[in-house]
Amino acid sequence: MSTPTTTATVILIILTTFTNLPISQSKPPKFPCQPPHNSYPFCNTTLPLQTRAHSLLSLLTLPDKINRLSNNDTGIPRLGIPPYQWWSESLHGIASNGPGVTFRTGPIPAATGFPQVILTASSFNRTLWGSIASAIAVEARAMYNVGQAGLTFWAPTINIFRDPRWGRGQESPGEDPVVVAAYAVEYVSGFQGGYTEVVGGGRRVLAAAGGGGGGGGGGGELMVSACCKHFTAYDLENWGVYARYNFNAIVTKQDMLDTYEPPFRSCIQEGKASCLMCSYNAVNGIPACADRNLLQKARTQWGFNGYITSDCDAVATIYEYQNYTKSPEDAVAIALKAGTDINCGTYMLRHTMSAVEKGKVEEKDIDKALLNLFTVQFRLGLFDGDPLKGKFGKLGPRDVCTSDHKNLALEAVRQGVVLLKNDNKFLPLRKNIVSSLAVIGPMANTTSDLGGGYTGVPCDPTSIYKGLKRYVKKTSYSPGCLDVACTSNVEFAEAVSVTEGADFVIVVAGLDLTQETEDRDRFSLLLPGYQMALVTTIAATSKKPIVLVLTGGGPLDVSFAQGDPRVASIIWVGYPGEAGGRALAEIIFGDHNPSGKLPVTWYPESFTRVPMNNMNMRPDRSHHYPGRTYRFYTGDVVYRFGYGLSYSNYTYHILSAPNNLTVFELPKTESDNILRTKDGFYNYLYVDELEERCDSLRFQVEISVTNHGPFDGGAVVMMFARVPGGFKGAPLKQLVEFERVHTVSYRVTKLRMLVDPCKHLSIVDESGRTILPLGDHKLLLDDIEHIVSILM
Ligand SMILES: *[C@@H]1O[C@H](CO)[C@@H](O)[C@H](O)[C@H]1NC(C)=O
Ligand SMILES: *[C@@H]1O[C@H](CO)[C@@H](O)[C@H](O)[C@H]1NC(C)=O
Ligand SMILES: *[C@@H]1O[C@H](CO)[C@@H](O)[C@H](O)[C@H]1NC(C)=O
Ligand SMILES: *[C@@H]1O[C@H](CO)[C@@H](O)[C@H](O)[C@H]1NC(C)=O
Ligand SMILES: *[C@@H]1O[C@H](CO)[C@@H](O)[C@H](O)[C@H]1NC(C)=O
Ligand SMILES: *[C@@H]1O[C@H](CO)[C@@H](O)[C@H](O)[C@H]1NC(C)=O
Ligand SMILES: *[C@@H]1O[C@H](CO)[C@@H](O)[C@H](O)[C@H]1NC(C)=O
Repeated sequence: MSTPTTTATVILIILTTFTNLPISQSKPPKFPCQPPHNSYPFCNTTLPLQTRAHSLLSLLTLPDKINRLSNNDTGIPRLGIPPYQWWSESLHGIASNGPGVTFRTGPIPAATGFPQVILTASSFNRTLWGSIASAIAVEARAMYNVGQAGLTFWAPTINIFRDPRWGRGQESPGEDPVVVAAYAVEYVSGFQGGYTEVVGGGRRVLAAAGGGGGGGGGGGELMVSACCKHFTAYDLENWGVYARYNFNAIVTKQDMLDTYEPPFRSCIQEGKASCLMCSYNAVNGIPACADRNLLQKARTQWGFNGYITSDCDAVATIYEYQNYTKSPEDAVAIALKAGTDINCGTYMLRHTMSAVEKGKVEEKDIDKALLNLFTVQFRLGLFDGDPLKGKFGKLGPRDVCTSDHKNLALEAVRQGVVLLKNDNKFLPLRKNIVSSLAVIGPMANTTSDLGGGYTGVPCDPTSIYKGLKRYVKKTSYSPGCLDVACTSNVEFAEAVSVTEGADFVIVVAGLDLTQETEDRDRFSLLLPGYQMALVTTIAATSKKPIVLVLTGGGPLDVSFAQGDPRVASIIWVGYPGEAGGRALAEIIFGDHNPSGKLPVTWYPESFTRVPMNNMNMRPDRSHHYPGRTYRFYTGDVVYRFGYGLSYSNYTYHILSAPNNLTVFELPKTESDNILRTKDGFYNYLYVDELEERCDSLRFQVEISVTNHGPFDGGAVVMMFARVPGGFKGAPLKQLVEFERVHTVSYRVTKLRMLVDPCKHLSIVDESGRTILPLGDHKLLLDDIEHIVSILM
């Protein structure tokens, strides 16, 4: 969010500045429909939501209506409707970024600080993702009940992590559309309170369930509202002359359909999200918030029935940065007509009346937007009387920072941390042989930077230094650099002397938000400043090889350490949140077996030659463009997507899977009608012509995982597929399915994965159509290959 620095945005910057009030008594939210304002039909809970929304609309004047088009809704005293702040944030815990949330006033001083999304994603555990979202929802409602938060939250971020330099890649569940889509579904359904179906291993159905609600009407009841953002092709902050506010993302049909779109489609179709946020950037020449085809596709094709908000001041940028319209009024008009229902900021407040007077906006354009907004408010129960007497009214301070939630935050780090290197089983360290420990690095003694972007006030944060000190009393600390930018080596001497006094040494290097964040992309993948020199200096000094811990969300080129025998082990902890220090120490000392896998490719520094503004996923050899992500990139990697070690050693086998599938038991003439051939040789079918046949093609794959080590642990099973050769733009491989399973030391664990060939073995062609190639498809599991032939 945050805003471009234009005159249009000064007001929003003020919005985010909190007044320094002392913690005071609980202030329950003011609510509409209290006497004498309770006899309006919109207050009548026995009427259908649509009727109530229309009734409310019918009581509004044009100025009333225009006043509703901002995140800061100042209320309608005449009708007894109090102010409502639409903008609250909850990316990985209740965050202070939006003006809807405050930690400074009221009885709730802190909320559970879960790890930044990229680390939670590394667990590849859907149940964990959903549980975290449900926990955040409980804390959100509790904070709402004491007047410290709204009910509409602008998370999750589900743009794929396309380029390793992206400052907000940390907020994303990674580079793979299947993983990001799965995360979106878990987050939104867990958050909105709607596990209405139990899928897979015994998911708990929340008491709060009401669900996003499917077709018809306005959808079901909502505990809180989640928002899929940023729609779409948004993943560049500030790189050279390109800024998110003026960037025009040129995206091919093929990339749009198989990479950029799937997370949003799933977020809406399966997650049933009640909000969509359009992004600052233009997509193929049209600013996203002004793109009717883009926004309406969500409603007409995916069944979206929530509200669409602009990113903050993304209506202003249509005119001021994208220069897409001739006037502010035209920007307001095109956004409303395209389907943007509310503008974060004041731009619509200021320019809509004049747009109406000039005939650019009709009242019915505003009415349509307001009905979408009101419907979500009704689904949230905002007009159903005293929220403290409602279904969620009992939630309050004692439901925030509970031991369950804090344990879940700890569990997320345990499951997400990725072990990248472990020479000769250097880790885990044995507690009884470590008599002294040195901890070096500017991030090791802080708690404030461990959350990453969109953090609130954590309940009970533990620094890395403090976490390690719990295991080894004689632990000493030296930062080595003044800060993470590490622009000088003057602090090295002290770090060296601390190192010399210790048995074992842990160096904490990497990134914080001074290096990568909103509005800030990186230009290098190397460790910042003198950090690399710090690592090698300490490694050369230490009696034993060192353990290198890396912080940050974005990939790092640490090939120097990868190849250095004096760096025995490398661990990536992302932004681990409040439990990070504790979980990391548990892993280092073997109380927990690491099991996370990288959800993004770690590229070498040479990748920074690739223009960040090039949105193409597919390589283009004639322009030395290497392509992006494990699906297309063929160059060298530092660590591949899905990489991650553990203290055990696993082997994988496919126990059973078909060798061939026959699509058609039909008379030959009929099947000939839909058989397509490319270059007179490559046969394929259009999936949209197969429809019901797709069901009969589904099959199961039985898989075994053997744990060859002395540790129990979580194993992440990822099955990929490779389509037969010869299809232009086909991925090198694509993820079919992933599952995290619990394994027991020296035992075999079995699982099944369901493959839907129309979905998992198909690809998108250059015209944007999904095709199922005939011939030999490969299922890939670790280094195992299994061929499934698809025959006519
Ligand atoms: C919302 O707008 C009102 C009226 O302009 C203003 O007084 C108030 O400070 C604003 N609230 C926030 C959170 O910016
Ligand atoms: C609410 O609506 C129902 C159905 O139209 C009606 O029977 C009832 O009288 C209304 N209640 C009030 C308080 O107006
Ligand atoms: C938009 O117009 C402004 C001047 O009004 C100009 O400075 C800016 O470069 C233009 N931006 C684009 C993307 O054309
Ligand atoms: C670690 O940080 C704490 C809190 O900021 C500070 O009080 C302490 O002095 C630091 N410890 C060392 C060894 O620098
Ligand atoms: C893992 O265990 C298997 C079976 O004991 C063994 O063949 C293989 O070499 C081991 N791999 C590693 C990396 O230790
Ligand atoms: C299909 O697979 C089955 C065994 O799975 C095999 O018996 C049969 O010969 C195969 N058919 C073709 C056409 O390859
Ligand atoms: C997935 O996460 C949940 C919630 O923390 C946990 O109970 C479960 O054991 C995890 N599954 C695996 C296989 O690690």
